[in-house]
Amino acid sequence: MKITVVGAGAVGATTADNIARKALAEEVVLLDIKEGFAEGKAQDMSQTAALLGFDTRITGVTNDYSQTAGSAVAVITSGIPRKPGMTREELIGTNAGIVKSVAENLLKYSPDIILVIVSNPMDTMTYLALKATGIPKNRIIGMGGTLDSARFKYQLSKKLSASAADLNAIVVGGHGDTTMIPLIHHATWNSLPVTDFLSTEEQDEIVKATMVGGATLTKLIGTSAWYAPGAATAAVVESIVKDQKKLFTASVYLEGEYGQQDINLGVPVLLGKNGVEKILPLALSEDETKRFAESADAVRNMNDVLKESGFIS
Ligand SMILES: NC(=O)c1ccc[n+]([C@@H]2O[C@H](COP(=O)([O-])OP(=O)(O)OC[C@H]3O[C@@H](n4cnc5c(N)ncnc54)[C@H](O)[C@@H]3O)[C@@H](O)[C@H]2O)c1
Repeated sequence: MKITVVGAGAVGATTADNIARKALAEEVVLLDIKEGFAEGKAQDMSQTAALLGFDTRITGVTNDYSQTAGSAVAVITSGIPRKPGMTREELIGTNAGIVKSVAENLLKYSPDIILVIVSNPMDTMTYLALKATGIPKNRIIGMGGTLDSARFKYQLSKKLSASAADLNAIVVGGHGDTTMIPLIHHATWNSLPVTDFLSTEEQDEIVKATMVGGATLTKLIGTSAWYAPGAATAAVVESIVKDQKKLFTASVYLEGEYGQQDINLGVPVLLGKNGVEKILPLALSEDETKRFAESADAVRNMNDVLKESGFIS
């Protein structure tokens, strides 16, 4: 089993590190365009093997896709992250060209590969990778909802003084500050509705803090976060390579589900050896349905930019 991670920056390296520590593959190939960068990160990580006790081989390469041949899964993190005050959507001009060429190169050497897209704006980059490569929709998964749901559980756990592991809560819709929808009325604390324990004001605070979770960290750190994004991406990869069929929210191609067509958006899915094994239906309230449709409109506007700029026809 070989897993490739493209982009050896903050999120890519953390993803590779988590994959190696969990021994999800015999080999992780870390690829970056910056000369020597992936090689250096791979060596550094490999030197933790004796301390942490894993056997996964970590290979760093500079833009050499032949080394990725035969990968079961590839994670695409290449591109620029946002700076304080920027939205994820502002990254489209630079990242679209990078994601398109990276996806095409990966497919050349691993025709059966499953792609996990992390680069932002993630929903649009996932749609682009799908359209540019033409691979079956079950083999392209956008990672964003898994992270946003983890951030939602973090906010809930703080307010409830509860263990984050005891919480079940998901975020659907687009992976953007204004497009994501934390579903607080569906969230439970070991099957007890969280809304039974929180005032309306507290619920609003949690939802708002979740939605700006990424922006809050970007402001504090000066660039976008990587520990939770890397852990969330490795969790998605784990469910695929171990065929765990875990339920995550991920950005998948919708053809009528949730009333949407020809778009990638975050919805609950089962992830297993075929990638997206199943898209699960969820009864949304009238308000949630309205917000989901608005989120889709915003993502569709971003997707139109791809068409206007000639990235897809
Ligand atoms: N989906 C999510 O939940 C989520 C979470 C965090 C970050 N992100 C996004 O992930 C991306 C990476 O963030 P980061 O913090 O790791 O950035 P980073 O700058 O630390 O790393 C990006 C890496 O991509 C490399 N790269 C650029 N062009 C490349 C190419 N053509 N081929 C191979 N490598 C190339 C760069 O050299 C760099 O090392 C950003 O777009 C960021 O917005 C998404």
